[in-house]
Amino acid sequence: MACTPPFDIVFFGGTGDLALRKLIPALYQAHRAGLLHADGRIFALGRGAQGREDYLRTLETRVKPRLGADFESTTWADFRDRIDFLQLDANRQADYAKLVESLGLDAQRITVCYLATAPQLFITICENLARIGMNHPNIRLVLEKPLGHDLQSSNAINAAVGECFDENQIYRIDHYLGKESVQNLLAIRFGNTLFEPLWRREWIDHIQITIAEELGVEERGDFYDHTGALRDMLQSHLLQLLCMVAMEPPSSLAEEAVRNEKLKVLKSLKPFSVEDVLGKTVRGQYRSGAIRGAPVPGYREEPHVAPDSITETFVALQAEVMNWRWAGVPFFLRTGKRMQERVAEIVIHFRPVPHALFHTPFNLQPANKLVIRLQPSESIRLYFLAKAPGDAMNLQSAYLNLDFHTLFKARHADAYERLLLDVIHGRLALFMRRDEQAQAWVWVEPILACWQQHGIAPKPYISGSWGPAASSGLLSRAGVVWHEEN
Ligand code: BG6
Repeated sequence: MACTPPFDIVFFGGTGDLALRKLIPALYQAHRAGLLHADGRIFALGRGAQGREDYLRTLETRVKPRLGADFESTTWADFRDRIDFLQLDANRQADYAKLVESLGLDAQRITVCYLATAPQLFITICENLARIGMNHPNIRLVLEKPLGHDLQSSNAINAAVGECFDENQIYRIDHYLGKESVQNLLAIRFGNTLFEPLWRREWIDHIQITIAEELGVEERGDFYDHTGALRDMLQSHLLQLLCMVAMEPPSSLAEEAVRNEKLKVLKSLKPFSVEDVLGKTVRGQYRSGAIRGAPVPGYREEPHVAPDSITETFVALQAEVMNWRWAGVPFFLRTGKRMQERVAEIVIHFRPVPHALFHTPFNLQPANKLVIRLQPSESIRLYFLAKAPGDAMNLQSAYLNLDFHTLFKARHADAYERLLLDVIHGRLALFMRRDEQAQAWVWVEPILACWQQHGIAPKPYISGSWGPAASSGLLSRAGVVWHEEN
């Protein structure tokens, strides 16, 4: 990847968890790889009264363990020269003048304003930026998810932000789109002749998309208890993955072409009726249990979570994309915290052969699966049946494995690094357009409304399990099971 042009990047929420855990480490990695222009500055903004040195000390303490062997003292010393800390209260107009003073308002300079704050502050920050002229065409605005709490609040944010910035200045981030395997999914689908003819209802039985986390809500109990898994993960990450799997070939890789195709998928999602919500969605909440042998508390015992909370930490559902390519093919999506394993994957299950020549045990069906793994490691596996050595015609499941780390020795950029570089370079293709995001809300809202109106409380599941039993039930009604790597 080419080195960036000169830039400034301003992190609102610069002392927050995301900046310390993901964003600044991602920039460090880009710096270490020589991908940042020497004239690239980083401004972390925070409300607290602390000096630059204090900030850098905290930053280093947080970043070092995350970077492990990649933390090199001399590289870090170089990198920290780029960083400044500014005290700014997003609600105080006067503080923005200090920001301009530190940055120097240069309309030719690429300046990224990254809003890693609570969404309630987005409108205020944008209005204040516009007031001081920090909305000129070279300003790029990054909006972290969740963008609002529902369609109405997300529309309100988008409308107000749209008053201050052009749509092509707005980068709505979904870090899952920056993951290498997601882009590889496009490469294998549209760069090869092998898969595309099979990528349709005639040959695909069903599709599963799983994002399972071992982590609980950590320090984010307050945020999470008002959000839940459907808003936090499904409305964004899982639907974006579904779009990547289901979309038609775009006319080019230009941002509008890709985004138009994704929007068509979102518009083709079958709306949920009340019966669908009751029969095809599963809500869960973790109880205490063990993760990798260590005991962990239940969700309701987590800090800042209501002791009688009915927020879901798990959701599974069956979706359908109503178009010529996908009509009748179930898409099973699930995500949860405190699950047995950290894994994110898309599994394409192909149909069984039309006539069974061989006796294949039930656990070997369906024979053909394509497993696109995003986490913990990135790979694409194609499963098929092969004859096991010996006299008898005994079939065995085998796979071709494309392990990106082994195959391509090159360094793999983490999703945030990739996306931050895209913003500096001005590439919008991997960011969500306003209409895409609104459409995702349109689709999930009836689920939220039905859960609330019918008092659907989440089903408990033990931490370290695969979620409530009802999640397996959802699939077994369709005669299938969740994919588990063997
Ligand atoms: C974030 C969610 O968007 O994604 C978190 O808000 C979640 O709740 C995280 O833990 C998962 O991201 P990753 O890349 O670690 O799978």
